[in-house]
Amino acid sequence: MTDLSGKAYLVVGASGALGSLIARLLADRGADLTVTGRSADALAAIGDVHAVTADLRDPDAGRTVVEAAREKHGRLDGVVIAAGVVAFGPLTDIDDDTVDDLVLVDFLAPLRVLRAALPVLEPGGVILGISAVVAEKPMPNMAVYSAVKAATAALFTAARTEARRRRIRVVDVRPPHTETGLAGRAIAGDPPRLPTGLDPDAVAERIVAALLGSETELASTDF
Ligand SMILES: NC(=O)c1ccc[n+]([C@@H]2O[C@H](COP(=O)([O-])OP(=O)(O)OC[C@H]3O[C@@H](n4cnc5c(N)ncnc54)[C@H](OP(=O)(O)O)[C@@H]3O)[C@@H](O)[C@H]2O)c1
Repeated sequence: MTDLSGKAYLVVGASGALGSLIARLLADRGADLTVTGRSADALAAIGDVHAVTADLRDPDAGRTVVEAAREKHGRLDGVVIAAGVVAFGPLTDIDDDTVDDLVLVDFLAPLRVLRAALPVLEPGGVILGISAVVAEKPMPNMAVYSAVKAATAALFTAARTEARRRRIRVVDVRPPHTETGLAGRAIAGDPPRLPTGLDPDAVAERIVAALLGSETELASTDF
């Protein structure tokens, strides 16, 4: 197991299913962690780590959480963006506020975290975003979610080349449907009948392997 003692990681969306599993896997390896999400209780359940509550719809949240992590640990070696929301239903039925939230949380927040983290990550550092299989295969009744996830995947792919000059690795991972309960927490609409998804522990382990290895993307077929 890779020893992460002395390395500092920020996990955004650590109050969620995948984010909390990823945070625990990093803590098990000895990393200094900052975790963020809206739910203070869910962050506290991760254990004795630096927790910062933030709502990612706030334009300053990305910069605030990156600065808090760096200030706390004196360095930043890695960032995982595991926050996200989903909504279901025909494009014409989704209300404007839901569209705004999808864009803010699933696209603008990763963009803002990426922009804040790139200049301050240590050389050799990494920033990993979780887009989704729908970035590869957009789905009806998930049109806005598919579109924002595709935008985020494109953003990470383009930024990867820019970041390489500073020896920062930018990683996009696109998991298939996973049994985290995300669909049941949709901010609007009812989920379609979905086949049984992947095991969250296995998905989190695969993501951490990519984070700590040398991969720059995980396609949906890599899970
Ligand atoms: N599960 C799947 O099938 C699947 C497949 C492909 C990709 N993904 C992506 O993987 C990521 C994690 O999904 P998950 O299944 O672990 O979902 P989850 O358990 O619902 O976790 C979502 C996380 O996002 C955070 N979040 C949502 N809105 C926020 C806001 N306004 N401000 C701050 N944090 C906010 C939540 O924090 P609070 O609860 O504290 O607000 C939580 O930590 C998402 O980006 C999702 O799109 C999931």
